[in-house]
Amino acid sequence: MSSTTARKRRAAFRAVKHIENGMVIGLGSGSTALQAIKMIGELLDSGELYDIMGVPTSSQTMFESIKMKIPLTTLDEYPQLDLGLDGADQIDNKLNAIKGGGGALFREKIIAAACKEYILMADNTKITETLGIGQLLPIEVYPFAITPVIKAIEKLGSKVTIRVTNGKLGPVITDNGNYLIDADFGPIQDPWWLEQEIHSVPGVIETGLFLGYANLAYIGGKGSVKRLKPSIDDTLKKK
Ligand code: 5RP
Repeated sequence: MSSTTARKRRAAFRAVKHIENGMVIGLGSGSTALQAIKMIGELLDSGELYDIMGVPTSSQTMFESIKMKIPLTTLDEYPQLDLGLDGADQIDNKLNAIKGGGGALFREKIIAAACKEYILMADNTKITETLGIGQLLPIEVYPFAITPVIKAIEKLGSKVTIRVTNGKLGPVITDNGNYLIDADFGPIQDPWWLEQEIHSVPGVIETGLFLGYANLAYIGGKGSVKRLKPSIDDTLKKK
């Protein structure tokens, strides 16, 4: 196991300890979230956990949860979730985050907003003083609007690329049938302002700025895990 995977695993291990029997949980996407999903499956299998259900944030998470025999449900049955566990691409000291490296940001944000408690899990390379330093901001876009959206996002001061992938010609298509763009804004001094500006562009489905959602983060390091609370309570700004 690589050292990064071990750090992600350590963070996931601490976050999974917050799960209590009877809970309905938002299941995040990405390699760190998959570590948590594997652990939840093992705890269910051993009988240490029981009577829990999950709402997956992506098809990746859905398939992995089915493999691990985690009972799944929907937001229609449980519009409010007890707990959400997810990874992140970058996290600042207010526990604001950039997400969407795996392209699941739209459903991930819907789940984040539905959770009473929302915990981020990451290895220590994800911590930053300011969001956007060395990190692109993913944005999900309705395909019909892709060109005007790119122009509008560039006007806000970024360089934009459409996300493509190996294994398919043309743009990445999200689980929701949309495109993804990655915007390079450099350091984002006022993420709350930027979030509003991007959302005011018609055709933008969702951004990877996760502001005021996380109330706790576990950050895996070399042989240890840091437990972080938001330094300023940005959750107050949550709409
Ligand atoms: C997917 C995400 C992931 O949580 C994020 O990209 C982190 O991934 P990983 O845990 O593999 O480092 O936002 O949309």
